[in-house]
Amino acid sequence: NNTKKIRIALDGPAAAGKSTAAKKIAEKLGFIYIDTGAMYRTLTYKALKNQIDPKNEQELYNLLLNTVIELKPGIDGQLVYLDGKEVTTEIRQQDVTQNVSDVALHQLVRSEMVRRQQELVKNGGIVMDGRDIGTAVIPDAELKIFMSATAEERARRRFEEHQKQGIESDLHVLQAEIEKRDHIDSTRAVSPLVKAEDAIELDTTHMSISEVVNKVTELAADRGAV
Ligand code: DC
Repeated sequence: NNTKKIRIALDGPAAAGKSTAAKKIAEKLGFIYIDTGAMYRTLTYKALKNQIDPKNEQELYNLLLNTVIELKPGIDGQLVYLDGKEVTTEIRQQDVTQNVSDVALHQLVRSEMVRRQQELVKNGGIVMDGRDIGTAVIPDAELKIFMSATAEERARRRFEEHQKQGIESDLHVLQAEIEKRDHIDSTRAVSPLVKAEDAIELDTTHMSISEVVNKVTELAADRGAV
């Protein structure tokens, strides 16, 4: 067996379908899937619980240094643990979603997160999704994908997801929230959301999930992953 345990960096804006695709790509290749957004969400969740202001860099950083975040594979995708307690669904709550971009702005927070993420990828055989994976976490990744889709389409997909989960939401509010998060993520000073120079751009507006999965798996195969 001489398949290569390559590292796949998957970046793009909120709700572009990265995690859904990444999970399936990892499954097909027998790789580990790592959702870095979940790490920023977990810190945000703990900060809100401890009444720490998402704008207070030093306090957030001190909190992070005293926080254990674990990602473990579950039957239905990745399970997230905060200091030993499962918080997989809690970190998807609205108040977390609304504050996570502010938490992710800070240099001290990002450098510690990047350090932990680099630790997780050192053995290869991973699909990692986020905003700065191809630019900051794994600048020498064997395959970099930048996934995009129109804000309208991303809001529509998120809306459908919510309906399936029985979560009440409004399509226009969702689109406004997504656009706000995109704006904060792509204009921040520290490793903003941008396409790495050597990333392959995939506009998924008119693609199905299986088309996206097949395309990325093909690109991974070209790089020796199959
Ligand atoms: O992928 P997500 O929606 O769960 O990410 C939540 C937020 O975390 C996103 O708005 C920006 C931030 N994030 C980041 O700054 N860098 C990453 N690598 C992943 C997420």
